[in-house]
Amino acid sequence: MSAPPNRAARAPSGSERGALVRARAAEAVQGVLSNGRRLEEALSYEGLERSNRALLRDLATGTVRWGLRLEPLLDDLLDRPLPRREVQVRSVLLVGLYQLANTGIPQYAAVSATVGALPGNKRWARRLVNGVLRRFARESADRLAKVDRRGPATRTSHPQWLVARFQKAYPKHWERVLTANNGPPPLTLRVRGDLPAYVQELAEAGIEADCVPEVPSAVRLAQFRPVPSLPGFAQGRVTVQDGAAQLAAPLLSPRAGERILDACSAPGGKLAHLLDLAPEAEIVALEQDPQRLDRIRETLNRQGLEPARVMAGDASRPVEWWDGQPFDRILVDAPCSGTGVIRRHPDIKYLRREGDLATMTRRQDALLEGLWPLLRKGGRLLYVTCSILPEENAERVSALQDRHPEAAGEALPEKWGFPYGPGRQILPGEHGMDGFFFARLLKEGS
Ligand SMILES: C[S@@+](CC[C@H](N)C(=O)[O-])C[C@H]1O[C@@H](n2cnc3c(N)ncnc32)[C@H](O)[C@@H]1O
Repeated sequence: MSAPPNRAARAPSGSERGALVRARAAEAVQGVLSNGRRLEEALSYEGLERSNRALLRDLATGTVRWGLRLEPLLDDLLDRPLPRREVQVRSVLLVGLYQLANTGIPQYAAVSATVGALPGNKRWARRLVNGVLRRFARESADRLAKVDRRGPATRTSHPQWLVARFQKAYPKHWERVLTANNGPPPLTLRVRGDLPAYVQELAEAGIEADCVPEVPSAVRLAQFRPVPSLPGFAQGRVTVQDGAAQLAAPLLSPRAGERILDACSAPGGKLAHLLDLAPEAEIVALEQDPQRLDRIRETLNRQGLEPARVMAGDASRPVEWWDGQPFDRILVDAPCSGTGVIRRHPDIKYLRREGDLATMTRRQDALLEGLWPLLRKGGRLLYVTCSILPEENAERVSALQDRHPEAAGEALPEKWGFPYGPGRQILPGEHGMDGFFFARLLKEGS
């Protein structure tokens, strides 16, 4: 008698794998939309091979990115609203619509894999999912045109409050910002050695890349690549960092012998850059979240770097950690809304609330106010955010200057961004970079 087939050991078929990827994408989407989780945390890649991991990331990221357009589209397609408890079915439907509306995945594959993604206890919804997706596929042009008539927030999948803030801050550029926020983020590297030689090395490995004219240390890859497979990554010769983030450390012009504070340090990207520029400086890294100290250590270990000190502490309360020795330079890479990096983190569209802004700006004021007295006369403080909201940027720095007339704004290079109050703003997508704000203050007096 032959042994019965071992079902547990059977490799999943292609269609089972396709359904599993959709199911995982729907889980992650549900995590963000219904449970307020960060997309990175909600994604589970376990048991998936490399190509399916990439597909999962694309499906989940894309569905969240376009969710605020896909949701009204879905509501229009449903004959009756889904009961609120059916969040799983709703997420599966959104992943299905994303594939049909925004990707080139063939309709048959998209629909069958999405129907297959329904969990066992939701088999009753197979007809519904199949019917809704097929209806959309038949009527997609009209359906999309109809939903887009609701206005720019829906058309570009943004929360209305954010669009209103962008319109107010950038009357001429807000539409460009909305478009850039939905674009694919480039993979940019900071090269720690000879940049032209590294570009050549990439070319020899068949990887197309360009220098970034505004940023001498940056190389931008033409296509996404798994980072660990990049030449020199394991040895720490290159590190992943957007071009705009690479502007920060040189703006502080750190020098040997100076005492420098990196006040909001984790995960340590700008700290590593500071250490590269001034290995003989005394650089102190501070981070409020003790759990994120390991992220700093990982970043530095991979690059073979070591600052003078890495410590946990609240930068706005120096009495708890400061030794009383003034700093020559202070970097304040402040926690912010992240509205300059929405293309990298589309979950910001769902997770950030307008009401969060008041808390953010209070924290930013407290950071600046707490740190300013630690700067020696003649010293420099660089305030940086990855926000494009003036409330978190120019307004915070101007408020500090109102309280401290000795805080003199310094000119910044004109080859990137544009002046905004006492600093310069880069909008997302400008020069291919993330949206960042920079202001540099000199402490006057003798
Ligand atoms: C924008 S991130 C910094 C990124 C980092 N500079 C880099 O380049 O990799 C802001 C960091 O500030 C930390 N943070 C927030 N409030 C803080 C405070 N009051 N004191 C110190 N760190 C703080 C956050 O935990 C977060 O790790």
